[in-house]
Amino acid sequence: MSKGEVIAGYLAPHPPHLVYGENPPQNEPRSRGGWETLRWAYERARATLDELKPDVLLVHSPHWITQQGHHFLGVKELSGKSVDPIFPNIFRYTFELEVDVELAEAICHEAGQMGLTAKMMRNPKFRVDYGTITTLHMIRPQWDIPVVGISANNSPYYLTTQEGLAEMDVLGRATRKSIEASGRRAVVLASNTLCHYHFSKEPEPPEDMSQEHPENMEGYLWDMRIIDLLRRGHIKETFDILPRFIEEAFAEVKSGAFTWMFSAMDYPELAGELHGYGTVIGTGNAVMEWNLVKAGLAKAA
Ligand SMILES: [Fe+2]
Repeated sequence: MSKGEVIAGYLAPHPPHLVYGENPPQNEPRSRGGWETLRWAYERARATLDELKPDVLLVHSPHWITQQGHHFLGVKELSGKSVDPIFPNIFRYTFELEVDVELAEAICHEAGQMGLTAKMMRNPKFRVDYGTITTLHMIRPQWDIPVVGISANNSPYYLTTQEGLAEMDVLGRATRKSIEASGRRAVVLASNTLCHYHFSKEPEPPEDMSQEHPENMEGYLWDMRIIDLLRRGHIKETFDILPRFIEEAFAEVKSGAFTWMFSAMDYPELAGELHGYGTVIGTGNAVMEWNLVKAGLAKAA
């Protein structure tokens, strides 16, 4: 078996509005569109993901919150209906997905070896959260690649942000090591919004784009500053200011996916490709790609 590799990472945010705007058959509510700039960004990301031909997609979701430890989907076939508890009016999605249980178990074991509390989720009727589903649907609507789903342990909220994110860094290293041992060609997906200030009322209909804009200017400026650093490949500098970004822009990267993804990629000082940016109920969302094959840091299929 040849050595496995992380072949790319994507910042792949999960506002359920994007699925709602697409009107896929799996989602019950119907829309007249909306949030096109972000949906077109995902179209571009889908094309590059398709070229990469990964064996597995790994996603860390802020909306599968676990209080104790880092959990992993551990049932080969999961299906059911996922409903967003905040926006049940726009997201009621019938899902069916295949889990790469072997890889999930390997990461879970490795995370334990590295000192984290880690656990496999074995409930066959488990309702997969809308963050995991939205990210996966938007990046690969065919649902034909096995997945590893990882929970967001609440440590950044219980401990300090730095202590919590240090755990996500360990989780990323456990992920990388297990992928290498597995022989898989893996894509890591950080299901994170950037600035997370949002409106508390939605327009009628929700897809009325005349009402969509950043919730506040300071948060928007923070997003532009972070995106500028990422586009120039200043990853170390991004992580240096990440705690301030989290604090001042209420950024969702606090929940750990962004740190986990970069740790799994071993923090390459590599320019990210911005596929697009847009707001959803005022929050800032960027779809970005770090293609390690294109950069010569991983082998082509
Ligand atoms: Fe979220």
